[in-house]
Amino acid sequence: MGERVKFEIEGQIGIATLSRPEKLNALDTKTRLELKEVVEEAEKSVRVLVITGSGKAFAAGADINELLQRDPIKALEATKLGTELFSRIEELEIPVIAAVNGYALGGGCELAMACDIRIASEKAKFGQPEINLAIIPGAGGTQKLPRLVGLGMAKRLVLTGEIIDAQTALRIGLIDEIVEHERLMEKAMEIAGKIVEKSPLAVKIAKKALNASLGMPLREGLRYEASLFSLLFASEDAKEGMRAFLEKRKPEFKGR
Ligand code: COA
Repeated sequence: MGERVKFEIEGQIGIATLSRPEKLNALDTKTRLELKEVVEEAEKSVRVLVITGSGKAFAAGADINELLQRDPIKALEATKLGTELFSRIEELEIPVIAAVNGYALGGGCELAMACDIRIASEKAKFGQPEINLAIIPGAGGTQKLPRLVGLGMAKRLVLTGEIIDAQTALRIGLIDEIVEHERLMEKAMEIAGKIVEKSPLAVKIAKKALNASLGMPLREGLRYEASLFSLLFASEDAKEGMRAFLEKRKPEFKGR
């Protein structure tokens, strides 16, 4: 932690900043390992994590210098590291917001897709340009992009390597909102702040239920939701939330 990924805490919100701007925050092994440490630390110490990049990129993908050195075995190990890191982010017990400040290409786009909420600066650009290197996305691009933007648009992006602007990303559902460049972090902190006010238990369980939705048949998903829903009635926070509403006051959640 430290050199390639900066981690700061503001209140109960963590901010991870990819900090290798001279290489457009290309995700080399060192960066991935540092990011893994940061997300694990964030899970223990904050209630929401915001991930952003320094300079003109969010992350311009895997480090192509490293890619060139790989044989199939090393490539498999590396993609495992990337995929596991992104799955860890997806399954983190706290919500993760991607504040996409610039290029989110290849692994950078996959990193953004691993986050729960994606907002982007008007300067952001997205794409899966691996095909230009005669490879394909290796950390979720071919699997997660179709789930977010539909198979047709995912095929177009992965097969052409086209880079799209923030407006297009918004139109196809890859991001949730475009923000003025200078206001990007302010907006990310505002969204994070809304989540911090909620019961951390309910937030954690809601994320779990939502994550399960795409991997389960609907009937099974509905049963899973029902069991998580009823579980929350054991929490003090749920009673507090309901009481506070009826007593017309702000709830005080304790996370139990
Ligand atoms: N891996 C390693 N280095 C990278 C990189 C990557 N994915 N992306 C950018 N860099 C490096 C460049 O080599 C350059 O280094 P240098 O100054 O030592 O020559 C530096 O970052 C700045 O990039 P540059 O290409 O000069 O910036 P640009 O503004 O002209 O172009 C991009 C920006 C994003 C269009 C271009 O850098 C690019 O296409 N990057 C690769 C994207 C990609 O294919 N990602 C998927 C990898 S699987």
